[in-house]
Amino acid sequence: MKLFDVYPLNNLTIDRAQGAYVWDNNGVQYLDMYGGHAVISIGHTHPHWVTSIKKQLDKIAFYSNSIVIPLQQQLANLLGELSGKTDFQLFLCNSGAEANENALKLASFHTGRKKVIAFSKSFHGRTSLAVAATDNPSIIAPVNETSHVIFLPFNDEAALTDCFNNHGQDIAAVIVEGIQGVGGIIPASPAFLRLIRTQCDQYGALYIADSVQCGYGRTGQFFAHDIAEVNADIYSMAKGMGNGFPIGGILIAPHIQAKHGMLGTTFGGNHLACAAAIAVLEVIQQEQLISMAKQRGMYLMNQLKAIDGIENVRGRGLMIGFDTPDSMKGLKKLLLEKYNIFTGEAKPNVIRLLPSLALSRKQADEFLDALKEAISDIQNNTA
Ligand SMILES: Cc1ncc(COP(=O)(O)O)c(C=O)c1O
Repeated sequence: MKLFDVYPLNNLTIDRAQGAYVWDNNGVQYLDMYGGHAVISIGHTHPHWVTSIKKQLDKIAFYSNSIVIPLQQQLANLLGELSGKTDFQLFLCNSGAEANENALKLASFHTGRKKVIAFSKSFHGRTSLAVAATDNPSIIAPVNETSHVIFLPFNDEAALTDCFNNHGQDIAAVIVEGIQGVGGIIPASPAFLRLIRTQCDQYGALYIADSVQCGYGRTGQFFAHDIAEVNADIYSMAKGMGNGFPIGGILIAPHIQAKHGMLGTTFGGNHLACAAAIAVLEVIQQEQLISMAKQRGMYLMNQLKAIDGIENVRGRGLMIGFDTPDSMKGLKKLLLEKYNIFTGEAKPNVIRLLPSLALSRKQADEFLDALKEAISDIQNNTA
């Protein structure tokens, strides 16, 4: 049987990983500045995470959501403590798209309304409503097309106010990334997030903070949206939550009432996923990874801003992007093929850095040195 060919692949096989490094099947070491697409929060194969999963596996891996699973409450308690959203409620699922799908559905149930506001360059996942709220027509199948989603320009306060003035009574939710990831590392301005809060309050809509990529401590705060100093009604989470173990979830404000059967899933919140997610939060707490991400991110950004050949360095914490001008085409490929460094990208010309929150200063320097060399290779035509 062939694999369904949907991914453009690097011709590489990774079969071992530790911390910020991965090794291919020939034993070649790579620095992972991509974090396996922002997923690796505490570092690859962190010993506490590995031990917790192994111990849980020996006890029980899965039973359905028809019984009490105390690990879910333990996870909720820790999440409340670390995020500061102690009075929120937790619903667990398996991925980022599923988290947003449930968030949007819940907003519609709660308000009895159908319209959703989303923004230019947004990415919210590939399930039905999540993809309809994603600003990329090429991944929206005809069956996902809907008139329920209104796209507005990102960070445009006048357009948002205008839309609420015209359609406020129909709006169930506004869904927004704190820092757009796939869109190219574009931060939402705090003023824009605060306006979303006040407009939602005025018209009875819900503010959904898509924190799938920018959440879980990556930006130096638990949620990137926290920079606006207002609460959203729903936070969606996934990538960093399991450090590679598939798990997602939504944090739901106390004013939103649950009803039996309203949301549900077979696998969400299973024993093994909870054990992985608890281990992640314990490590984030013990190793103070949120403040580490902030410090390391500031260092990286300052150093990057001083490098000639790249442009528009931006982001927060360890969610950083910069543009490569036409003269630097091929930089990402060169970093991988000659310097053994994984980075992320966003079309057309953005390099994205999304490493583990435990990236050391030495590893940051290793990346910066390689980047400078790769740039001079291209400038001197020696690549
Ligand atoms: C902001 C954001 N939301 C949602 C998703 C979808 O997550 P998943 O791929 O786990 O479904 C992604 C994935 O890249 C994302 O970046």
